[in-house]
Amino acid sequence: MKTQGNTVLITGGASGIGYALAEKFLAAGNTVILCGRREEKLREAKAKHPGVHTRVCDVASSEDRVALAVWAGKEFPDLNVLINNAGIQKRVALTGSPAIASLREELAINLEAPIHLATLFIPLFLKRREAAIVNVTSGLSFSPLAMVPVYSATKAALHSFTLSLRHQLARTPVSVVEIIPPAVDTDLGGVGLHTFGAPLREFTDSIWEQLEAGSQEAAYGMAAEASRASREQLDASFQRMNPGA
Ligand SMILES: NC(=O)c1ccc[n+]([C@@H]2O[C@H](COP(=O)([O-])OP(=O)(O)OC[C@H]3O[C@@H](n4cnc5c(N)ncnc54)[C@H](OP(=O)(O)O)[C@@H]3O)[C@@H](O)[C@H]2O)c1
Repeated sequence: MKTQGNTVLITGGASGIGYALAEKFLAAGNTVILCGRREEKLREAKAKHPGVHTRVCDVASSEDRVALAVWAGKEFPDLNVLINNAGIQKRVALTGSPAIASLREELAINLEAPIHLATLFIPLFLKRREAAIVNVTSGLSFSPLAMVPVYSATKAALHSFTLSLRHQLARTPVSVVEIIPPAVDTDLGGVGLHTFGAPLREFTDSIWEQLEAGSQEAAYGMAAEASRASREQLDASFQRMNPGA
């Protein structure tokens, strides 16, 4: 994908990886639209970057997704990049009778939303000279962390969907890009739970370089290794990440 001259919509763009990517796109002169649930985070982003556009949107809601697509298509006729970044991560004890509503929320945000948003934006993007759909998956797409079982499953499914999407959009103007982060120091799952992860700036600098170089898969650190690992290496990694079974 090209990294300049785009109009880019980033879901979950007011914090963490989405916000760090937004700053890269802004610095490169792109028009950037951020959406998320927390209005105050969107306001903070706008205060720092007055040129940024924002919209409150809960991507768990299919009505909100449709409204977002209608609004963005109308307000930004040049919109040509969708970054499916919004995500949540829950620790779930499968033996503890978890509530289905909570499991559904994780499925809806991490998997249903990127699939639905892709289908909503494809008709628009097919009319562009160049467009891109960027899905943020995870190293856990390749080797799950058992304490976040639904999260890991959504990311494996999103990786799979990304391959199919790319195949179906081959020979169209729409590129399909996958960003594959390892653990990164953001608020994912709750404040302080990812401080062991890679520094956000180092991660984003590397991802940006890969996007600029035209990579279809931009991965970093352990996630880059996992995305290219053999079955034997993935089994060993599963044992390392999930000791004691
Ligand atoms: N950090 C890591 O270790 C890591 C590793 C691999 C993959 N990832 C992926 O990277 C992406 C970004 O996560 P992050 O690490 O930057 O975490 P984060 O700091 O918690 O950011 C997540 C963003 O998603 C937004 N969001 C969550 N639910 C939403 C909803 N229903 N509707 C709209 N926006 C929603 C949040 O904003 P609101 O709460 O205001 O809605 C927030 O801005 C996620 O897809 C995550 O799975 C992260």
